[in-house]
Amino acid sequence: MSSNNRLTTSWGAPVGDNQNSITAGSRGPTLIQDVHLLEKLAHFNRERVPERVVHAKGAGAHGYFEVTNDLTAYTKASFLSEVGKMTPMFIRFSTVAGELGSADTVRDPRGFAVKFYTDEGNYDLVGNNTPVFFIRDAIKFPDFIHTQKRHPQTHLKNPNAVWDFWSLSPESLHQVTILMSDRGIPATLRHMHGFGSHTFKWVNAQGEAVWVKYHFKTNQGVKNLDVDLAAKIAGENPDYHTEDLFNAIDKGDFPSWTLYVQIMPLDDANTYRFDPFDVTKVWSQKDYPLIEVGQMVLNRNPDNYFAEVEQATFSPGSFVPGIEASPDKMLQGRLFAYSDAHRYRVGANHNALPINRPHSPVNTYQRDGAMRFDGNGGGSAYYEPNSLGGPAQGGSQQKIAPFEVSGEADSVAYDHDDHYRQAGDLFRLLRADEKERLIRNIVGAMKPVESDEIKLRQIAHFYKADPAYGQGVADGLGLSVTGMSSK
Ligand code: HEM
Repeated sequence: MSSNNRLTTSWGAPVGDNQNSITAGSRGPTLIQDVHLLEKLAHFNRERVPERVVHAKGAGAHGYFEVTNDLTAYTKASFLSEVGKMTPMFIRFSTVAGELGSADTVRDPRGFAVKFYTDEGNYDLVGNNTPVFFIRDAIKFPDFIHTQKRHPQTHLKNPNAVWDFWSLSPESLHQVTILMSDRGIPATLRHMHGFGSHTFKWVNAQGEAVWVKYHFKTNQGVKNLDVDLAAKIAGENPDYHTEDLFNAIDKGDFPSWTLYVQIMPLDDANTYRFDPFDVTKVWSQKDYPLIEVGQMVLNRNPDNYFAEVEQATFSPGSFVPGIEASPDKMLQGRLFAYSDAHRYRVGANHNALPINRPHSPVNTYQRDGAMRFDGNGGGSAYYEPNSLGGPAQGGSQQKIAPFEVSGEADSVAYDHDDHYRQAGDLFRLLRADEKERLIRNIVGAMKPVESDEIKLRQIAHFYKADPAYGQGVADGLGLSVTGMSSK
């Protein structure tokens, strides 16, 4: 037997018997001296890391990004520096609310998390398949997610909590409308768009900045699943989307997306008709048309699900020079939340794991920590500043573009409270059959809500978006819109 094929313990010693534990006599109790058995059972007990608190169920793939348009006027990001430049990337798609083993074909936003292994460090774009979100301040996120998860006593999903929260958070209306529309259940992960959702800042080599939003348009076309079929598939093949993605890539049918951006001049943010940092709103494409950036192609399946997909850590705070945060209050909270989750879920050295490790050199003064499996810097300089010739900071090209801040420190709501216009515009854009399915989906989802007060409060929001929208839901639920106002 070649030594490569010889079963060993984790400390490399050959294993003599992997089928029978060592017992005192052939019938006797098991001996504690069977260290191979002890190690095997103990390691097995530790095979799971905590699942992601949201977006637990996911599928990943490797690929590349190729620049097709010169946007160096807007950003100095090295991976976007010339047409034809290719950058390896990894993507993880996910559902939001379900657990690690939950069904793929449920109504839920889909995560769309992309890691670009650029030559100036990793750039993570951790978006969704929707351009907007339910809330617009990070302080509401834990409460919102509680409503999407299970009831603390019954351990059941709880429509009362879902609609109570949404009806008391009318900023959710736009995203609720998208979620309840046909797009709420994509046919496959290949047949949906992706969005950065937030506004980000791009900075060029001259230090000039613009605001930017990202749109990944699927080259496969958008396709959605019929609700009854989706429910059937959820029972018969809960891993339907995961399987579809793996099989498509396996047989060489590589899915791809075209990345576009919308660019807003910096000063427009002060005068635009709503706050462009509010993640519950989209920017009009008439005002800020889509500009092509490049192609993303997925062409390689992971070799190992746990090592690559489960251990992948994406952070909206992993920026590279030329790409920066905006003041979006959700994004600001996310800049903390993800790396904190990674330190808890995977460990302080998660960025050293092969799937997360940048493909460009990493020179930090971080040392030690659990599972430090690289050389830990050997004997090289381990503090800064030093006179040992250790890695030193760059200069102004790597610093953020300075920006002014003003005003009083306070807990302040977004000043623009029009929750209804964009949700109503979306409703009015839908064809009659799409409207009908949207209303049917909402009625189906709201029927189990026990309180008429919650239902009526939510119907009033639909009514304000468009009277026909509110009327349709009210009719479906057998309630009256009398006294509701579209103002
Ligand atoms: C995953 C927090 C809003 C997209 C996560 C995770 C946390 C989190 C803690 C798990 C991370 C991990 O364990 O690796 C938050 C907070 C938010 C927020 C605090 C609001 C303040 C959003 C928004 C989007 C989004 C607005 C999309 C536009 C995702 C995606 C993942 C994720 C795609 C999965 C990443 C992966 O595949 O590993 N979020 N989230 N989240 N979140 Fe959020």
